[in-house]
Amino acid sequence: KRMDVPPPSSILNPLHHEEITLFGPGPTNTAPRVCHASSLQTFGIFNPPMVDLMKEVQEGLRYLFQTKNELTYAVNASGMAGMETALTNLLEPKDRLMSLTNGCWGGIAAEVGERCGAIVTKLEHPPGVPFSSDEVEKALKEHKPHVLYVAQSESSTGLLQPVEKLGSICHQNNCLLVVDTVASLGAAPFFMDRWEVDVVYSATQKAISCQTGLAPISFSSRAREKIASRKTKVQSYVFDVNKNMVQWGVDGVAKKYHHTYSSTLLLSLREALSMIAAEGLEQMWKRHSENTKRLCNGIEELGLELFIKDPAYRLPTVTAICIPEGVESPGSLNAYCMEKHKVEFGAALPPLVGKVWRIGIMGYNSTEWHTNKALSVFKDGLLHIGYTPKAAKVK
Ligand code: GLV
Repeated sequence: KRMDVPPPSSILNPLHHEEITLFGPGPTNTAPRVCHASSLQTFGIFNPPMVDLMKEVQEGLRYLFQTKNELTYAVNASGMAGMETALTNLLEPKDRLMSLTNGCWGGIAAEVGERCGAIVTKLEHPPGVPFSSDEVEKALKEHKPHVLYVAQSESSTGLLQPVEKLGSICHQNNCLLVVDTVASLGAAPFFMDRWEVDVVYSATQKAISCQTGLAPISFSSRAREKIASRKTKVQSYVFDVNKNMVQWGVDGVAKKYHHTYSSTLLLSLREALSMIAAEGLEQMWKRHSENTKRLCNGIEELGLELFIKDPAYRLPTVTAICIPEGVESPGSLNAYCMEKHKVEFGAALPPLVGKVWRIGIMGYNSTEWHTNKALSVFKDGLLHIGYTPKAAKVK
């Protein structure tokens, strides 16, 4: 019998690829120890090693988020699913969401909020301009949102938004605080309980040095009360926290099947968290800060401008570099560096498309060696597109 669709020759060929060094906004290269963990066997949903694995991941995540929250786990999908889990569980139709928007993520959070039926207000700043706690407080008093969204890591612009004062301001105004730490967790200080954050989420493929596919998340008791008082069902079945928490055995309840978690990714995350615990968060923060400073200095020595002018507000992971006037096809630098050096640099996201290049030095790649490699390949890319760097200091 002839098949309607024959086996494709593309997948009958042996798998082959050359190693790419990832200097984009994430994913970063996965630590070899983490890759090894993911090659161990697949577990059944409630096999004893899977139960232990989930418990160890929760404990490692509490350290990483600096929280004692019982409801701490990993959503079985990418960082965007972390955002979707946070907002779809907290928001009911007609609830008010305020989204701090000074890059791309605030706009996306606003759209997720609208899809939940929430009444959304965007507090807007030009890209890369941080919000002060005073203006946030004023806006909370004026708009009275139930939930405030802020990205600590605005990776489209390279901004590190201070969030430490926002939790108490939100609570004085009967509002819950959601913080996106996708491109900062493990690289910049974050203290969930000390800073009174209600929901935080991140992603595994950035400073955590794990593969893409899990979104660590944690909920405060205030956030849990809001979810418990919902009058409507959470619109998403997969991301419903009430169901997720039973599968994770939160509050010591008997675990029940909801959907199948990837034991492979949980093995990886467990190893990545073990590496983080062994290095220590303070050392991780120092390493990221030092290597990104090294990158920023090298970029400035090439005569280029950084998009975030004040070093205190620069992310220690993703750096946005202004594309100088006269450069007509900035994307050809990225294409050349991939072709010639097997190096990925980041493309821009809205609202900065055509305005910046982005270089990410994070997780396993946050080393002096990787930073120097990024600088020397970037310099070669600049020469290739006809831009002459000011100084020839970078070898
Ligand atoms: C994704 O997180 C990005 O910043 O491109």
